[in-house]
Amino acid sequence: MSLHTPILAPSILAGDHAHLAASMEIVAQTGLSWAHLDIMDGHFVPNLSFGPQTVADLRKVCDLFFDVHLMLDEPQRYIEAFAKSGANLISVHVEPTYAIVETLEKIRELGCLNGIVLNPDTPAESILPFLGRVDLVLVMTVQPGFGGQSFRHDVLAKISQIDRWRNDRSLQFRLEVDGGVDAQTAPLCRERGCDTFVAGTAFFQAGDKLEFARSIEE
Ligand code: DX5
Ligand code: ZN
Repeated sequence: MSLHTPILAPSILAGDHAHLAASMEIVAQTGLSWAHLDIMDGHFVPNLSFGPQTVADLRKVCDLFFDVHLMLDEPQRYIEAFAKSGANLISVHVEPTYAIVETLEKIRELGCLNGIVLNPDTPAESILPFLGRVDLVLVMTVQPGFGGQSFRHDVLAKISQIDRWRNDRSLQFRLEVDGGVDAQTAPLCRERGCDTFVAGTAFFQAGDKLEFARSIEE
């Protein structure tokens, strides 16, 4: 798969949490290969979701690519647990204070791809020191913590900036967008260089998931 092949990564946060395996099955039956797993600690974001035990149990019942988004104040304490639980890619936020370079390196040592994430109000420049060290940059287009929020159009300029840096420096990371992504907002991100699209509500509420997936991955 080329680096810029568009990928839709449905967020199972928007699925039925009594039946997360069924959500994975829906993603797989739609013909998709990635699932996005949102991990929240109640500190970095004002919500809680699920942890490594849940990820490990989901790993046993499906072979989708697990794109694990850690919304944690101390992600470095948990990356080993998530790598062992079967994550394929682990993304960590740039905002908290911890050893970011070491954490990104450790994720790769553990056999996973790594990603750096920035919130809507965090300047693009904050991720500059890490751009040559990551497999993915995740740009939040909502304040993280909850699904179903409205897409922040003011973040589009930041996506363009990061895409410019990627081109100017011939870097290889994927550029992913997360929050309020739907059939209307995904094309705006694609025009600005995004190649990887997280969608929770828009995917799980789509009447025709195949059609929605095609509209993103075509
Ligand atoms: C927000 C999460 C997102 C969320 C997206 O904290 O990081 O992945 O599930 O949900 P929607 O697509 O509903 O905005
Ligand atoms: Zn997410």
